[in-house]
Amino acid sequence: MLTLDEFTIQQLKRFPNATGELSGLLRDIGLAAKRVNVEVNKAGLADILGDTGGMNVQGEEVKKLDVYANTHFTEVLQRGISCAGVGSEEMDDYIAFEDDVSRQSKYVCLIDPLDGSSNIDVNISIGTIFGVYRRVSERGTAATQADFLQKGRSQIAAGYIIYGSSTMLVYATRRGVNGFTLDPSIGEFCLSHPDIQCPAQGMIYSVNHGNFFSYGEGVRRYIDQCQQKAPRDGGPYTQRYSGSMVADMHRNLLKGGIFLYPGTTGKPNGKLRLLYECNPFAFILEVAGGVATDGHQPILDIQPSTLHQRTPFFAGSREMMAELHAWMHN
Ligand code: AHG
Ligand code: MN
Ligand code: MN
Ligand code: MN
Repeated sequence: MLTLDEFTIQQLKRFPNATGELSGLLRDIGLAAKRVNVEVNKAGLADILGDTGGMNVQGEEVKKLDVYANTHFTEVLQRGISCAGVGSEEMDDYIAFEDDVSRQSKYVCLIDPLDGSSNIDVNISIGTIFGVYRRVSERGTAATQADFLQKGRSQIAAGYIIYGSSTMLVYATRRGVNGFTLDPSIGEFCLSHPDIQCPAQGMIYSVNHGNFFSYGEGVRRYIDQCQQKAPRDGGPYTQRYSGSMVADMHRNLLKGGIFLYPGTTGKPNGKLRLLYECNPFAFILEVAGGVATDGHQPILDIQPSTLHQRTPFFAGSREMMAELHAWMHN
């Protein structure tokens, strides 16, 4: 079975003009993921559970593992030769790496270092999400804000790590989506899920039902309809929602399904962050044949204006998304 490194090198060989910088970047992300995985696995034994006592820029309580993951991913990317800077959920502003090698680097990364913070202390799957962009600023200079505020459609690659019953790294380029499972016996991510396609139709919907009465009417109608669908039409759909976007999206990507994080009356843009949560998943899903929108337009077409902006997020199997839009807009 191919390791992540072998796979990216194999891809590289097919494109004679490629420089190997993206392979290097993915290798770096794989390395950081392995380090975070070790900590996640012994959470409860090491003093790594619980809050730091601090708040992040979005007003959320920061967990120790949020900080640990943010530090590891940022440091590994800084030490590598492919990344000129990082924007992260856990940092108020982006960081442009100042050393000469980083200033020459081709890419910038946006990351959610630890997704599913509320699940850390209770041993439910958590994850990491990342998006990779070719910088628009000149190489040789420090990365700029414009490098980070590109439309999701410009992503060169996007992916996630799920620290679950097994640990997986899934990443997409325009050529396809591939999943790698960490083999603990050799400490390598190995290609276990080649060429992932999202089924056009699924039976699962994932939404926080607790917020039902503050969703818009169209979303409420759609959710009702998930429950009322007759068995002959494949219903009723099964509801699955863990509070870890990575876990919910991973399941729906493989099995087919739909994930909703709508705006609410109090928070019209919902909760999820465009740059490092929604864009990477929208990219992965589109490459896999699925659809991701804010209810009106493709997520990947939104022009970002700030690093931590939020957006309503609807994503999943193509036919389920068409049905959702029909209920929302008719
Ligand atoms: P994070 O832990 O990175 O802040 O993200 C948590 C997100 C996402 O993973 C999940 O789908 C969502 O928050 C759950 O929010 P609710 O508890 O409001 O449903
Ligand atoms: Mn958070
Ligand atoms: Mn998150
Ligand atoms: Mn997070």
